[in-house]
Amino acid sequence: MARVVETLFLVMSCILCSVLLGFSDAAPTSTYNVVKFGAKPDGKTDSTEPFIKSWQSACTSLNPATIFVPKGRYLLKNTNFRGPCKRKVTFLIAGTLVASEDYHALGNSGFWILFNHVDNLVVSGGRLDAKGAGFWNCRRSGKSCPVGARSMTFNWVNNLVVSGITSINSQLSHIVINACNNVLVKNVRLIAPDQSPNTDGIHVERSTGVTINGCTLQTGDDCISIGDATYNIFMSHIKCGPGHGVSIGSLGQKLDEKGVENVTLTNAIFSGSDNGVRIKTWARPSNGFVRNVLFQNIIMDNVENPIIIDQNYCPNNQGCPGQTSGIKISQITYLNINGSSATPEAVTFDCSPSNPCQGIKLHDVNLTYKNKAATSSCKNIDGTSTGTLAPESCF
Ligand SMILES: *[C@@H]1O[C@H](CO)[C@@H](O)[C@H](O)[C@H]1NC(C)=O
Ligand SMILES: *[C@@H]1O[C@H](CO)[C@@H](O)[C@H](O)[C@H]1NC(C)=O
Ligand SMILES: *[C@@H]1O[C@H](CO)[C@@H](O)[C@H](O)[C@H]1NC(C)=O
Repeated sequence: MARVVETLFLVMSCILCSVLLGFSDAAPTSTYNVVKFGAKPDGKTDSTEPFIKSWQSACTSLNPATIFVPKGRYLLKNTNFRGPCKRKVTFLIAGTLVASEDYHALGNSGFWILFNHVDNLVVSGGRLDAKGAGFWNCRRSGKSCPVGARSMTFNWVNNLVVSGITSINSQLSHIVINACNNVLVKNVRLIAPDQSPNTDGIHVERSTGVTINGCTLQTGDDCISIGDATYNIFMSHIKCGPGHGVSIGSLGQKLDEKGVENVTLTNAIFSGSDNGVRIKTWARPSNGFVRNVLFQNIIMDNVENPIIIDQNYCPNNQGCPGQTSGIKISQITYLNINGSSATPEAVTFDCSPSNPCQGIKLHDVNLTYKNKAATSSCKNIDGTSTGTLAPESCF
């Protein structure tokens, strides 16, 4: 009897510990093929409902679930994948998800493919084609256009992996990480033409613990942009350009902001981009801050503003004339950055007169303009500079 009780206890505690430790991966995986739910790989038939139905089955599965999208093209309208789900869900895409040529099809909701309140999510492989060109043309022509759609948005997702996705021609941003924790984005390629308006690559905001690794970003706006209330961001092996570079900001449009802390960008190449590494804040009062940032091991190839802090952002001089930025910028390090600037001024520090930049460090930075010395400019900045510096430090 004692033995039986002991065995039972062992079995019970084993089940309990696997549940507690999240060993549920060991359980068999249920697979949900979108074609079995009626999706048509012809690029013409609206497959939104079949995708949502397969999501509902996967999301309520008692086993970890995989949604499988076979090869082929699947036309999707706004598609909202909602959690919470019972177990880990993997979205495995072998095919291409396409949006309608008619940009009105995505309406005014602001998103195309949306994941909301899902924990333990993997989205892997495949292509997204949002067919953004019609929407960009509408905006360029100054007609009244819908607000447009971000291609893939993650809201309130904890423990997220996004890997191996290629996204082309988004209407607005390709990938948005909003209010998420513990995120890995790796090996993604995000492509839209230079000059396509507001086609950011990856936008991260209100999120903690985001790693972005091995990504190729060719866009019309920022390759990566980082918004307010974002902490512990690690980016490495990033290729950026064309595009507007890696940008912390714009920050400080609002008075109450939570700031950005602990950002690292390491091993990056910028080619022909408007900016390299940028921190950008509105010239408006704000409680926000940017602190503890490291930009290191970076090559610039013909970049207009390789290193820039711009605290005087005020588009069309509206909503901020005569004001200064309240964002406090401190502990920013630039280390081992080489290459060429496309403009004479390679290093620009235009900090706030009311909140000067503090603790800025430059070490081994060598940027040239047409194979000659470039220049640098400084306003309201305090820091230290060491090692090889060309242009010479202006602080
Ligand atoms: C920033 O990094 C420091 C050092 O690792 C850590 O102590 C701090 O908690 C981090 N900040 C946030 C908001 O996580
Ligand atoms: C920058 O140039 C120096 C000197 O040639 C070299 O040691 C360093 O590795 C280069 N850095 C990068 C990121 O290429
Ligand atoms: C900076 O790099 C250029 C081009 O590689 C090189 O000619 C120059 O000597 C370097 N400057 C310094 C100060 O090391």
